[in-house]
Amino acid sequence: MSRSPSWSRAWDEVARLAAASSDASIAALLRDEADRHQRLTLEAAGVYLDLTHHRLPGGALDALLALADAAQVGERRAAMFSGEAVNFTEERPALHVALRGPVPELCDGGAIAAEVQGTLARMAGFAGAVREGRWRGATGQPIRDIVHIGIGGSHLGPQLVVEALSEAGSPVRCRFLSNVDPRAFERALQGLEPAGTLAIVASKSWRTDETARNASAVRRWFADGGIAGTALHGHLVGVTANTAAALESGLPESSLFPFHDWVGGRYSLWSAVGLPAMVAIGPQRFRRLLAGAHAMDRHFVEAPPARNAPLLLALVSLWNSLALASDTEAVVAYSDALRSLTAWLQQLQMESNGKRIDRDGEPVPWPTAPVIWGGAGTDGQHSYFQALHQGTAAHPVDFVVALPDARDPERRGRALVANALAQREALLVGRDGSPATADARAAGADARGRRLAAHRACPGNRPSTLLLLERLDPERLGALLALYEHKTAVLGWLWDIDSFDQWGVELGKVLAADIEPLLDPGQPLPDSLPAARRELLRRLRAAWPAR
Ligand code: F6P
Repeated sequence: MSRSPSWSRAWDEVARLAAASSDASIAALLRDEADRHQRLTLEAAGVYLDLTHHRLPGGALDALLALADAAQVGERRAAMFSGEAVNFTEERPALHVALRGPVPELCDGGAIAAEVQGTLARMAGFAGAVREGRWRGATGQPIRDIVHIGIGGSHLGPQLVVEALSEAGSPVRCRFLSNVDPRAFERALQGLEPAGTLAIVASKSWRTDETARNASAVRRWFADGGIAGTALHGHLVGVTANTAAALESGLPESSLFPFHDWVGGRYSLWSAVGLPAMVAIGPQRFRRLLAGAHAMDRHFVEAPPARNAPLLLALVSLWNSLALASDTEAVVAYSDALRSLTAWLQQLQMESNGKRIDRDGEPVPWPTAPVIWGGAGTDGQHSYFQALHQGTAAHPVDFVVALPDARDPERRGRALVANALAQREALLVGRDGSPATADARAAGADARGRRLAAHRACPGNRPSTLLLLERLDPERLGALLALYEHKTAVLGWLWDIDSFDQWGVELGKVLAADIEPLLDPGQPLPDSLPAARRELLRRLRAAWPAR
């Protein structure tokens, strides 16, 4: 599917409208467009989406929908769901959707569904045994702590779900170890007893250096606690798409939870990579998470374009990348349980779409992959929100609000939600600094007062999206994550890039392997190195404790 002339024309039209609307008044659009609310709000799989606060006139939405049509987003979506090799550089499908429910579009769907159910049943059996204390370690003690070792997609999704859905009183606590920094290891293992600990090592490739080193350190930690050889089988299991390598590393088949290489790393939460989450939240609630994601999948396939939540979210993101002088998107979760959402989204969106070459190997003529940043509200309000309100660029913000428990004597949950709405409102209305305002008059009519009024003024008209979850239950969380996954895929199709590969991250891995020996004082430094690098390496070697 190469870019057609109609695709290019549709792009030109969107780009023209975006340039013309870059200063459009959101307040005026909200006031004057009678059907704005109907067109730009919707509920999908339990997630309420409000896209009304963007500098996007209704007419431009039609042009965006025409672009999606010209870019054959519907056909590309069908290709993904039917198992075509949409990851065209690696020539494989991206079939994470098949992990969350039956996919009628999929040829061989029955066989895949049966296998998925088999894996889920095995995971559930294991998770149940651990949770109920039936899974005993080498000394006969039940498992009370899990250390999950993995990085990137083998870490961020499970951590997000564990944080979001763990309940007080869960029989098993879960910690995550991703960074290769020894301090991270100490923190993750601090206070744990080997006899009551289970390590889950997750690596799709089973070749990731950080994970391999941390897994080896954990094995040593168990051995120091008297657990080694076959005794380790009760304390260490692996999750991978490379079972041959995992077996070679000494894990028996019975300790392995495999998945297929048609599951991309950053889309692997739904596979056996979700095992720590299943243990932490329980098999039933994990299945509900999958069901929520599946409901969003069906919405994505079945809803008409103008009412399709992932499509609209992607189109608005695309619009902002053209209309605003900003190449970032902030995501602020008003829910402590979702504090890791931004980190998960960074990998999802920036690893998927941080590309500059299209399907034909040509440079993409449009800006791709805005920088994703943000964190948890209200904390962000006391830090980077200053730049959102008064900085030179207008960065679009996703306000992700999950209603907290209302039974709180201090009404903190209500305050949390009020803050989200207030920040959104403040970004929209701003604060007028002109001399006629009461604020400016209060500052004083003299030169200092006028200056102060200018400093206090907020330009407003800053775009935002609201995503509301009336409850943070497994279904809604699954739906929210699937919504963002599909938004990411749609953007990739609009840009004509491969959202499912990640060649860029490979170079650093190769160079790290080349550079590490140079840190060893016994190794000669190549003369070919520039002086600045030799000096840095000399310093590092001198600072290194003798080994
Ligand atoms: O470095 C990037 C990456 O390849 C991600 O795509 C992936 O999620 C992560 O590393 C971990 O990979 P693996 O699961 O193979 O250890």
